Amino acid sequence: MMEQAGILGLGCYLPPRKLTNKDLEKMVDTSDEWIVTRTGIRERRVAPKEVAASDLGVEAARLAIKDANLKPEDIDLIITATVTGDMAFPSTSCIIQDKIGARNSAAFDINAACSGFVFAVTIAKQFVDSGLYKNVLVIGTEKMTSLVDWEDRSTCVLFGDGAGACVIGKTKDRHIVSYFLGSDGAGGNLLKLPAGGSRIPATEETVKNKMHFLKMEGNEVFKLAVKVMADAANKAITKAGFLCTEIDLLIPHQANMRILNAVAKKMGLPEEKIFFNIAKYGNMSSASTAVALAEASKEGRIKKGDKVCLVAFGAGLTYGAVVIKW
Ligand code: COA
Repeated sequence: MMEQAGILGLGCYLPPRKLTNKDLEKMVDTSDEWIVTRTGIRERRVAPKEVAASDLGVEAARLAIKDANLKPEDIDLIITATVTGDMAFPSTSCIIQDKIGARNSAAFDINAACSGFVFAVTIAKQFVDSGLYKNVLVIGTEKMTSLVDWEDRSTCVLFGDGAGACVIGKTKDRHIVSYFLGSDGAGGNLLKLPAGGSRIPATEETVKNKMHFLKMEGNEVFKLAVKVMADAANKAITKAGFLCTEIDLLIPHQANMRILNAVAKKMGLPEEKIFFNIAKYGNMSSASTAVALAEASKEGRIKKGDKVCLVAFGAGLTYGAVVIKW
């Protein structure tokens, strides 16, 4: 088998503290029953106050590098996908680089929101295929609990913290066979964090008006998500020369159980071919697909030769899919 860009190692890290739906019942006007039936989420992880996205990312990165039988010095490039980076700059990738001692690497962040990990894996593949870099560390890390409004029941029940990582390099198996990326900037208003950037810098007013919290039009996002996720997955699968029904495991961004079921139905895939961990973690933005991939592999859900499709959508809007032949 020829060597091609693929997965050398995987890792993930979830902060230990769990926030259950019952806990949320004490914080906002909601119920375990509403959250479970409308979203499929039962609990989510919350990182401590002093822990930032880079700290979560470091844990996942170390595990992925170890799993790849490499050392931090062997990493040539670090790409971190995050919307909850430690600060606007320096990049979270640079902070992680320093903490893990990957002193021979270049490092930068990307922002494709919840599709970030899928975008970053695709970027990593280009660098490996071109021969510019040998070992590329890709991280999806988020502390989503730092930007949700804990008084807004329509959003605070949905999100959680976590990190996943993989090392991409030339391998004999676990090849990235194809990918598809797309964006629709016209849908940008549906999901955003309005203030704190150059458009609306932080002021007393922006803090008072809660403009530093995530805002979402849930219903609109829901409808678009089903369409674009199924489309993106179909396009990547077709490009790989496979049929949708040949996919052994679909690993989708974990936004809402009902979205995932609708996507599966559209693609003609039975439920047992979909990987779910939403009940345990909620939506961890770019970390969701990264954690799901690492967990699916660790739990033995993927066998050698399996055709796996990662698919995501998120703010931007962004959407994308990657097909991996295990
Ligand atoms: N607990 C109880 N009631 C809640 C609630 C909560 N946590 N959140 C909202 N509600 C209420 C609403 O206020 C509304 O009440 P009303 O009818 O009296 O106005 C009712 O439940 C229905 O709200 P609606 O927004 O229509 O519910 P929904 O079925 O669309 O579910 C989401 C809401 C957010 C779960 C759903 O739209 C969703 O998942 N959207 C996609 C979000 C997403 O994936 N975002 C991330 C993209 S990466």
